[in-house]
Amino acid sequence: MAVTSGPSAPRNDLQPENYRFLQDYIYRESGIVIDSDKHYLLEARLLPIARQQRIGTLNDLCALLRATGSANGLRRQVVEAMTTHETLWFRDPGQYDALRDKVLPDLLAKRQHLKRLRMWSAASSSGQEAYSLAIMLLEMNLGDWNIEIIGTDLSEQILDKARQGRYLQIEVNRGLPVASLVKYFNRSGLDWQLNDKIRSMVRFQKFDLRDDMRSLGSFDVIFCRNVLIYFDHETKRKILTRLYAALQKGGCLLLGGAETTLNLVDDFERVAFGSAVLYRVP
Ligand SMILES: C[S@@+](CC[C@H](N)C(=O)[O-])C[C@H]1O[C@@H](n2cnc3c(N)ncnc32)[C@H](O)[C@@H]1O
Repeated sequence: MAVTSGPSAPRNDLQPENYRFLQDYIYRESGIVIDSDKHYLLEARLLPIARQQRIGTLNDLCALLRATGSANGLRRQVVEAMTTHETLWFRDPGQYDALRDKVLPDLLAKRQHLKRLRMWSAASSSGQEAYSLAIMLLEMNLGDWNIEIIGTDLSEQILDKARQGRYLQIEVNRGLPVASLVKYFNRSGLDWQLNDKIRSMVRFQKFDLRDDMRSLGSFDVIFCRNVLIYFDHETKRKILTRLYAALQKGGCLLLGGAETTLNLVDDFERVAFGSAVLYRVP
């Protein structure tokens, strides 16, 4: 079945009850909200899985999902297909400037007695965000400080890529300064391999942002960027409440450009620095 219609056109072949089934299924498994006009998105992302399963239509895929429940590889494939992994190096550079020039100097002064900082890239995708942070911290020459960076994501597949630290030319072209490419990467065939020094600074693990975060400990800086946009109001509110609790006093949350804590969790102190907005725990 080809995608021949415009973005909002309903497809006769996906029955309305199956559309609702897929909306519910994806919401339950990931928290991602699929609006009622996203037939093209479901087709584009899920038809390849249906074909791989040697079934023709999304209706058949729904029948298979109903029959197999959530405890199989098909569930993982559907969730992987519905998550958007778009990311780049030093995305929104103003936020990294704010971190380097404002947030970290404050935190370094406050944590001088401990010489320890913990940072979390909470929807890390293929790792560019967590590794950008690692590169920035390495270049700050923090000497004997103990810096821990963890990257988490719902998708096992994207976490494998993050751990490998191997990127295509088009991926390193997106936001990574040439000087950093030369300094921290080695050519590997047509790809670029991040060096072990930077890779060893980040630990990746699977984590669903809707889960209890207490097992991860507390953090000084949390990047939770460009993921809340996929969730509904209540899910955003719950996640932001837990992120607030996961931050140390004086710690900072960084959100994506289209995301905010406003009207969700009022406890954060909103701090503007240059073009960046940060959310601090007072
Ligand atoms: C658009 S990427 C954002 C990557 C990066 N933070 C950035 O801003 O460049 C969104 C990521 O959120 C992850 N994700 C979606 N739902 C999630 C959930 N419930 N828990 C954890 N991660 C989730 C996706 O797998 C995807 O890698």
